[in-house]
Amino acid sequence: MAWNVYVTRRIPDAALEVLRRECGGFEMNPHDRAATRAELLDAVKGRDGVVCLLTDTIDDELMAAAGPRCRVFANMAVGYDNIDLAAATRRGILVTNTPGVLTETTADLAWALLFAVARRIVEADGYFRAGRWTGWGPMQFLGHDIHGSTLGVIGAGRIGVAVALRSVGFRMRVLYTDPQERAELARIGASRVPLEHLLRESDFVTIHVPLVPATRHLIGARELSQMKPTAYLINTSRGPVVDEAALVAALKEKRIAGAGLDVYENEPSPASGLTELENVVCIPHLGSATLATRSRMAVMAAENLVAALRGERPPNLVNPEVLPAAPADDRGATAGR
Ligand code: DGY
Repeated sequence: MAWNVYVTRRIPDAALEVLRRECGGFEMNPHDRAATRAELLDAVKGRDGVVCLLTDTIDDELMAAAGPRCRVFANMAVGYDNIDLAAATRRGILVTNTPGVLTETTADLAWALLFAVARRIVEADGYFRAGRWTGWGPMQFLGHDIHGSTLGVIGAGRIGVAVALRSVGFRMRVLYTDPQERAELARIGASRVPLEHLLRESDFVTIHVPLVPATRHLIGARELSQMKPTAYLINTSRGPVVDEAALVAALKEKRIAGAGLDVYENEPSPASGLTELENVVCIPHLGSATLATRSRMAVMAAENLVAALRGERPPNLVNPEVLPAAPADDRGATAGR
């Protein structure tokens, strides 16, 4: 069957193979960068379906530009805050995401940031490479212990749970916030507590909630002031969950010990002053960035798109209310990713 499909940026080959085989081909953004708004508005015209990325703003204007044939936006990400879901639903357009396949990879990265910032790995590496090391010293690059400390997990969805389970080998106490008790976490002795309790008690606070109106600036000046001065904040979820200007101020004034960040409020630009700080490790939104995981995400997005174009229910549909007679409440947990 030949469908008119657009891919907003180069994605792993395995997914392009699926589109070639199942859709009779596709068109793809030829540039190795996100399409500009004008390019995107033009490129989606007349498409049956679009494979899109978290860097694409898929709003009502873009859906209107795509036109009445457009059946699906298949996002290659578990988060879909880049898509106006209400507008898609109103227009009868299916939206899909890629849950599950990136859980473990993203959890690994949250730990990588935690280690990097607590043990000052990036700072020390820079010092060593600059040829400044003149020999071992008893007071050099003293960091904070991870083993035996308290881990606070905000949002115990798939990724939050995977992060928490990794703490067992480090004999950590685990606190978490979530609308639901999580049996996997009860099994490791973790306690579900209110956010303020978690912030006051944790040595490492790691964020794993989706970006929805209720989680925008979930961590702001007040919440940062509730953290211990020796505590670290790790964010691999979405930048706007943290008030980045407030975080910069807290880090600058050493009101918390440090932060490990993968995501930013206004990507790709960091808040003013962030990159001048030594007590922060900043990486460019790499949570799911392994070859295997990005390939799985891309194939999943392609398969979601194909199912939608065939008139089937895509496996990872986030607005099932578009389909007739679908239960309205099976969109999946919004509590954590
Ligand atoms: C996602 O899938 O939402 C991630 O942020 C991509 O790495």
